[in-house]
Amino acid sequence: MDFLDVFFVWLGAAVVVFYGIKMSSFVKMFHPRFWFPQPASFFKSMGEWAVVTGGSDGIGRAYSFELARRGLNVVILSRTKDKLHRVALEIEESTGQKVKVIVANFTEDDIYDQIEEKLKGLNIGVLVNNVGTLPSYIPSKFLQTEDLTQQIAQVINCNVKALVKMCKIFLPGMEMRRKGVILNLSSGIACVPCPMYTMYSSSKVFVERFSQGLQAEYKEKGIVIQAVAPFGVSTAMIGYQRPNMVTLTAEDFVRTSLEYLKVGDKTYGGICHTVLGWLVQTVPKKILHSDRMQDSFLEYVKKR
Ligand SMILES: NC(=O)c1ccc[n+]([C@@H]2O[C@H](COP(=O)([O-])OP(=O)(O)OC[C@H]3O[C@@H](n4cnc5c(N)ncnc54)[C@H](OP(=O)(O)O)[C@@H]3O)[C@@H](O)[C@H]2O)c1
Ligand SMILES: *[C@@H]1O[C@H](CO)[C@@H](O)[C@H](O)[C@H]1NC(C)=O
Ligand SMILES: *[C@@H]1O[C@H](CO)[C@@H](O)[C@H](O)[C@H]1NC(C)=O
Repeated sequence: MDFLDVFFVWLGAAVVVFYGIKMSSFVKMFHPRFWFPQPASFFKSMGEWAVVTGGSDGIGRAYSFELARRGLNVVILSRTKDKLHRVALEIEESTGQKVKVIVANFTEDDIYDQIEEKLKGLNIGVLVNNVGTLPSYIPSKFLQTEDLTQQIAQVINCNVKALVKMCKIFLPGMEMRRKGVILNLSSGIACVPCPMYTMYSSSKVFVERFSQGLQAEYKEKGIVIQAVAPFGVSTAMIGYQRPNMVTLTAEDFVRTSLEYLKVGDKTYGGICHTVLGWLVQTVPKKILHSDRMQDSFLEYVKKR
């Protein structure tokens, strides 16, 4: 055999192994309870309380309910007092768990001392960094974003800074107790550079890299850190699009994504969104980033 033969044989073998591994981890997703088992009491065993930022609506609200159902007391944070109290009451009545509310505007800089103060001494086992803002549901180029100055502050503070600050507050307790779960809400569209949602999607890349780096640093301490990156979930953020196979309800999304807690430092949270993630990544950038694609994307979203 000459050199080229050897080269192609090895190349072929490498490709088979690579896709074989990919395929087998995908197939495992169909039976999460078998492959990534966690006892029913898993979340409760992490600590007494869960903290959910942006917990009064959408995905955050669904996490708060689900974690309370699994036996944790919950602290929910968001801007609107009424909404917080309403959700707190609903959770308390339907699950019997305790709920604390903290009014906090994550667009602001100076809220973290207050949060730390109010939660001092609580045994916090689960932190869900969920708060996030999308500057505009209608896609737009960077400079055409409405209220750009304000949107920059919102995206950087809510999507990036809140996550880092909250981790700084709660990670030490988890490190000391040698257990804990941190979930950071990323987005499916962070898997490729995403024009027309540039600020939002790149803020989510920060979420993923930060999570993955921290997971490597703290896994030895018994702390599970995962970035959760859904595509469409029917909430206010995306104008309550009608749920279907691709656009999930917040409740369904949260329930399935929690089954994938043990798959690794990043999950799309479900089978359909995993496939979507692959598809998006296989479209050549030349096509995905072409002007025509961007224009038709804009038209498509406007119509919906
Ligand atoms: N929906 C999707 O399709 C989708 C897809 C991928 C990723 N995500 C991510 O999932 C997370 C949750 O999204 P969602 O769709 O559930 O959003 P949502 O329905 O709009 O809910 C956002 C929550 O955050 C609170 N909030 C918003 N801005 C805040 C601020 N400045 N300070 C404090 N609280 C604030 C809101 O309450 P107040 O307004 O009362 O403050 C609400 O409780 C985000 O990180 C988002 O990027 C969503
Ligand atoms: C949140 O803070 C930002 C920045 O200070 C401010 O512009 C916005 O009005 C605040 N929102 C609420 C609901 O307090
Ligand atoms: C979430 O972010 C925090 C810091 O903000 C980080 O410590 C943690 O590892 C991240 N977790 C995931 C799963 O990304």
